[in-house]
Amino acid sequence: MTAHQMKLGAFLWATGHHIAAWRHPQAHVTAGVDIDHYIQLARTAEAAKFDMIFCEDAAGAREANVNIASQTSRSIGFEPISLLAALAVQTSHIGLVSTASTSYNEPYGLARAFASLDHLSGGRAGWNLVTSASHIEAANFGATGLRPHADRYERAREFAAVVTALWHGKPDGASGLGHDGRSFSVRDALELPRSPQGAPVMVQAGASDVGRDLAARTADVVFTAAQTFEEAKAFYDDLKGRLAAYGREPDDIKIMPGVAPVVAETESEAREKYEELQELIPDDVGVALLSSYLSISDLWRYPIDGPLPELPASEGMQSRQALVIEQSRRDNLSIRQLARHFAGARGHWRMVGTPAQMADELEARFEGGAADGFNVMPSYFPGELDTFAALVVPELQRRGLFRKDYEGRTLREHLGLKRPV
Ligand SMILES: Cc1cc2nc3c(=O)[nH]c(=O)nc-3n(C[C@H](O)[C@H](O)[C@H](O)COP(=O)(O)O)c2cc1C
Repeated sequence: MTAHQMKLGAFLWATGHHIAAWRHPQAHVTAGVDIDHYIQLARTAEAAKFDMIFCEDAAGAREANVNIASQTSRSIGFEPISLLAALAVQTSHIGLVSTASTSYNEPYGLARAFASLDHLSGGRAGWNLVTSASHIEAANFGATGLRPHADRYERAREFAAVVTALWHGKPDGASGLGHDGRSFSVRDALELPRSPQGAPVMVQAGASDVGRDLAARTADVVFTAAQTFEEAKAFYDDLKGRLAAYGREPDDIKIMPGVAPVVAETESEAREKYEELQELIPDDVGVALLSSYLSISDLWRYPIDGPLPELPASEGMQSRQALVIEQSRRDNLSIRQLARHFAGARGHWRMVGTPAQMADELEARFEGGAADGFNVMPSYFPGELDTFAALVVPELQRRGLFRKDYEGRTLREHLGLKRPV
């Protein structure tokens, strides 16, 4: 029997996940379009036996104000499926997961791209399904603006069903697909044999009620943001509880919240490292990032040392807006304090400490039934991924919480997921 061990993703993000990473002396500004940078990161993660590397995406700028956008850690970057195709031939075991939107693609093209990635990587591909919540991105795909939250999810449900049907092929061996639905019409099957994993791994990020429901229906892995143990546990129990309605077992889904570590041999060194990064955040950049998570454009009008104003319901990222508001109330934070807090990890769980402290915390969430693993979000690259791999992974291995070597070749095998029939 395979040991009960946590899963780890290495979430790659240009210069680093901390918004000021690009200003860190060890980061380099054009990392987002440097293939050698990504090869180095993928190899480090593979040597540390991570389950997968994970790439985000948005087909457009993350911030409308160019002056602010140019002062963030992720202002330029590759289209990620292309990037992963290049990394597939530079690695041999690690899973390759890319984000792609159901709002700005068509299912046939996307199913084909991920099935191809699965073939050319020997069974290591995964698709992170997102519905896209940004007005800036919407403006690159016609003049209609961001579609309402409920419409995006309705399209996503049909999109996921068509992609899955294309990946699985027709059980009777017939050549057609013959889908004629509300948003999509697809006549033919893919001109590809069944892919090495049976189907690429389906990841999903989106945590509202409809988002969780779609995940329960379709996802193999869920990427989520949770700050406290209680939040993570509530999400975990809720999502696992939804699976039975779709004839699925709790273990059919791996829930992997993000964690942004700042780690050093001693606690004071780790704190110093973290403060050094925090000092690099310009206030207007921090406030702009917070505004985008709250889906409002005029947060800068409010006094920066005052509380968060009352906000209208969002058509954007509902789950992240709720998380920001909850945190502001829980800790009674001003706009400046919230902005600085979110600039460090975009709402994900941030940990500052020694390898043993970090392993204790990860173990507590894993053993406490709040996570099946973690998507690790290093503050700056390559430094913080190197440090995590060198200091935290061995500590987890020593405790029997993480693999010492790959047992299989495919991403499904690493994650302990069933092969779809
Ligand atoms: C943890 C997490 C990561 C996400 N990553 C991306 C991403 O890389 N690109 C993107 O366009 N949207 C991303 N999203 C946005 C979601 O796909 C979705 O559009 C948004 O969260 C609104 O849905 P929700 O209210 O169900 O969360 C992410 C959402 C979450 C919760």
